[in-house]
Amino acid sequence: MTSNVTPFRNVKHVSLLWAAPERAEEIAMLHARVFADAWAEGSIKSLLEHPASTSLIAIAGDPKTIKGFVIAQLAADEAEVLSIAVAPDWQRAGLGAMLMEGLARASRKGEARRIFLEVAEDNTAALALYRRLGFKETGRRRKYYHRPDGAIDALVLTLPL
Ligand SMILES: CC(C)(COP(=O)(O)OP(=O)(O)OC[C@H]1O[C@@H](n2cnc3c(N)ncnc32)[C@H](O)[C@@H]1OP(=O)(O)O)[C@@H](O)C(=O)NCCC(=O)NCCS
Repeated sequence: MTSNVTPFRNVKHVSLLWAAPERAEEIAMLHARVFADAWAEGSIKSLLEHPASTSLIAIAGDPKTIKGFVIAQLAADEAEVLSIAVAPDWQRAGLGAMLMEGLARASRKGEARRIFLEVAEDNTAALALYRRLGFKETGRRRKYYHRPDGAIDALVLTLPL
């Protein structure tokens, strides 16, 4: 069977690693490319230094650079996704799913019973990814995200592990 993903973007060439605080600068650069509200490198570093951090990076290329990340925290029996992104030129190649599945494995090992996150209700790509992975809506925060034409709701999605 042939794949329609070019070898350059093939997930077989991608490695999943723990996100060490030393990778904060690179993660911040990718975060700024993908999100309108860029997080400061120092804030990302603090999150990665936190003992509860359960954060992963997906690296690929030669030299290997960060193509995607998920920043999450494990508390009691829950893991919360604080941010996830994939570089625009690597989207729809399976990295988002790979990062979330890696997080699910790590969270299970940490004895978490569920993963939850907040997502803007107009973020169709992220919603499609989460629903495909089995996340279900468990809450709604009204007018949570600001858009130029008005505030929109955040959906709280949960995946039982
Ligand atoms: C959301 C995001 C992380 C998804 O990453 P990705 O690597 O492109 O996702 P994957 O390739 O693993 O997609 C897995 C599945 O999710 C769904 N999906 C992902 N992106 C989609 C899109 N743009 N439209 C429709 N479905 C999509 C599809 O079912 C896809 O499977 P398929 O490609 O076989 O159809 C990526 O779009 C991104 O970085 N977006 C900007 C940042 C962001 O919004 N983060 C989430 C904040 S809550």
